[in-house]
Amino acid sequence: MNRTLVICKPDAVERRLVGAVVGRLEAKGLGLVAAELRTIDSDLAARHYAEHRGKAFYPGLIDFITRGPSLVMVVHGPTDTWRAVRALMGATDPMAAAPGTIRGDLATLLDENLVHGSDSAESAQREIATFFPGLA
Ligand code: RTP
Ligand code: MG
Repeated sequence: MNRTLVICKPDAVERRLVGAVVGRLEAKGLGLVAAELRTIDSDLAARHYAEHRGKAFYPGLIDFITRGPSLVMVVHGPTDTWRAVRALMGATDPMAAAPGTIRGDLATLLDENLVHGSDSAESAQREIATFFPGLA
C-alpha cells in the first residue's frame, strides 16, 4: 500500500505547526495526493476512531478531534507508506516519543499529539475511503 491517511489534528492547526508537519513528510520524500482543511464532525470522528469506542479516553478524543479544523491528507510513497509516516510521527505519548520524531520534538501531551497516521495497510485503505471517497 503506497498511500496512507495523515491528519494534522486541531492542535497542529492552532499551534501553526501544519507547515512543520507537512515539511517533515516532504523532506522524507513522501508526496501529497490530496489535502483538505476541514472540521471533522462527530459522525465522521466516531467512524474514524471506532476501534476506541468504550475506552475511558474516547469522549475526550472525540471532543478534541472535532474542536476545530484539521488538515486531512492522503500521502504517497514508494511502498508501505503508512509505516514510514508512523516512524516519522513517533510514539503515541509525546513524552515517550523519540527526539527527531514529530511528536518527540513538537508535543508534550498524550491527548494533543499533533498527528494521526493510519496504523496498517488495511487502516490506510479504510481511512482514505472514509475521508476521500473519490480516491478509494
Ligand atoms: P492516532 O490514531 O491519533 O494516530 O494515534 P495512535 O495510533 O498513535 O494512538 P491510538 O492508540 O490510536 O489512540 C488514538 C488517540 O487517543 C489518545 N489516547 N489516549 N489516555 C490514553 O490512554 C490514550 N490512549 C490513546 C491519543 O491522543 C491517541 O493519539
Ligand atoms: Mg491510531
